Amino acid sequence: MKILLIASGGDAPGMNKFIAQMYKRYGSSLYACKGGFEGLYNADIVPARFFEPFKVANSAGCCIKSGRFPQFKQKKYFNKALENAKNFDFVVVMGGNGSKKGVKELAEGGVKAIFVPATIDNDVEGTNYSIGFHTAVAMVCYAVRNVMPSMQSHSRACVFEVMGRHSGEIAQNAAKILQPQFLITQPSQLNIPEMASEILKRHKKDQATSIIIRENIIDCDDLTKKLNDEIGQRLVKNFVVGHLQRGGKPTKAELKMSAAFAYATIKAIGKNQSGVAIEFVDGKMRIQEI
Ligand code: F6P
Repeated sequence: MKILLIASGGDAPGMNKFIAQMYKRYGSSLYACKGGFEGLYNADIVPARFFEPFKVANSAGCCIKSGRFPQFKQKKYFNKALENAKNFDFVVVMGGNGSKKGVKELAEGGVKAIFVPATIDNDVEGTNYSIGFHTAVAMVCYAVRNVMPSMQSHSRACVFEVMGRHSGEIAQNAAKILQPQFLITQPSQLNIPEMASEILKRHKKDQATSIIIRENIIDCDDLTKKLNDEIGQRLVKNFVVGHLQRGGKPTKAELKMSAAFAYATIKAIGKNQSGVAIEFVDGKMRIQEI
């Protein structure tokens, strides 16, 4: 049996653990596409052992290389990728909603394909969890906890921009833990005069202010400037948490989840299930038709 692994979209902490678990089970039968669907299109495929998955199992990143390939949506690119996929008994794709759609199309094209949710954004339909999310939230907490003591020393404010594309999941979950003064996950929640007045009020009481904002609402430097202009003093700093969320060491909980996703994938392959997604719902893994 030949199994092909693909990591599509942005990398997510925990992907390496998933790859290592798959390698543990399938050894020399496991292959990997370099750089997502582009690797499938170019038949840039090598045995997984080439990437030494056991060495990086507990590290962030994606040893087989993850990639975005929007051309995959176009028929001529898709068809060539589909032909290359037919050389394998199973294709397992880690990624987000776009990759899930790709898996459905591969399955409809006659390839046995399985989707595994892996994106820090945790916005994949049908599952409560996608690989990378726990670490991303933990890294936001790490950043805020390590920047705010300096802000407190000067009673300043700090705007923390966190990833999530258009999903507020990371920001909301980090905020539950950190209890910032402001949490902004939607453009409608942005009220600069109100924020400026609260920052100044707190400054006068020797208090710092933390603000968590989801990316893609407003440019972080712009927001900082607007707040400082409104206050009339340079009290506001910013910190874009950014790729720290993807490059952060996977948490213990993350590694456990990645292993659980791998076990469920191995189970689905064992049952010869295709066109399915591995989902985590109500605290349990399930294998669901896409
Ligand atoms: O989808 C994961 C994600 O990290 C988003 O949160 C973010 O908007 C995007 O990828 C960033 O992608 P890139 O690393 O390609 O800039």
